[in-house]
Amino acid sequence: MSSAQVQIVTQGLSKNFGPIEALKNLDLEVKKGSTFGFLGPNGAGKTTTVRILSGLLRPSSGNAAVCGFDVLTQQDEIKGATGLLPETPGLYSKLSAVEFLEFIGALNDLTGEIVNKRIDQLLALLGLEGRQNDLLESYSSGMKQKVLVASTILHDPTLVFLDEPTSRLDPSASALVKEIILALAKETETTFFICTHMTDFAEDVCDIIGILNEGVLSALGSPNEIIDQVGANDLEDAYLKIVGGEVDREKLLTWRQ
Ligand SMILES: Nc1ncnc2c1ncn2[C@@H]1O[C@H](COP(=O)(O)OP(=O)(O)O)[C@@H](O)[C@H]1O
Ligand SMILES: [Mg+2]
Repeated sequence: MSSAQVQIVTQGLSKNFGPIEALKNLDLEVKKGSTFGFLGPNGAGKTTTVRILSGLLRPSSGNAAVCGFDVLTQQDEIKGATGLLPETPGLYSKLSAVEFLEFIGALNDLTGEIVNKRIDQLLALLGLEGRQNDLLESYSSGMKQKVLVASTILHDPTLVFLDEPTSRLDPSASALVKEIILALAKETETTFFICTHMTDFAEDVCDIIGILNEGVLSALGSPNEIIDQVGANDLEDAYLKIVGGEVDREKLLTWRQ
């Protein structure tokens, strides 16, 4: 594969927080235009990986290149080329949605009529027309999430990291975000790296899935390949087979004794 086609490559990428091994020896390649889904239970190391790949956190060992830039030495270049929807984003609650997006646009050197038109159209697409001048502190958490999705794609990044993008969204907003991701990947070859624990979302959106369990990449392939690898019925079934998730019914209520 030529290097221009590979947007993310990691080699032996690892991260420890004191005694906790959050990420262990990750070797991964993500191709341009791919919608890569990073699945795994809470605490698996997904957010840690995204923070390293987006230039926010240094790995303990190993290396990675994102959009051709080195995560150890070219964090600023990575931040310029990528968009990031963090798991727990900060928002300026005293700004309106339009002001917040203008601010994000300016940070990415986008100013003037183009950005205002984009902001209006994105907010309308996301169903926030009519509320765009209200302060963000008056928004519901799903509405804030929509503004954050808009802020992540506003500057047309080559690669977008989405950490649990649909966690606060209602089903129709979630379906809309799915369609936006698929359209951008198809029409503009934008690459997506999506952390989620929603297997149905991943099955609909992602061409390649990696399943991370306790910091270890335990499965990698297309949804169908992963389903076939473990003889499962669907991706949720495959996920449960790979990470374990059997409920011990005996213990459901014993804590009350
Ligand atoms: N800043 C931190 N300090 C200490 N431990 C952390 C820190 N960030 C993450 N961890 C630990 O790393 C592991 C992976 O966390 P995380 O990457 O957030 O998982 P995921 O996003 O898959 O739920 C967890 O055990 C978590 O407690
Ligand atoms: Mg996380």
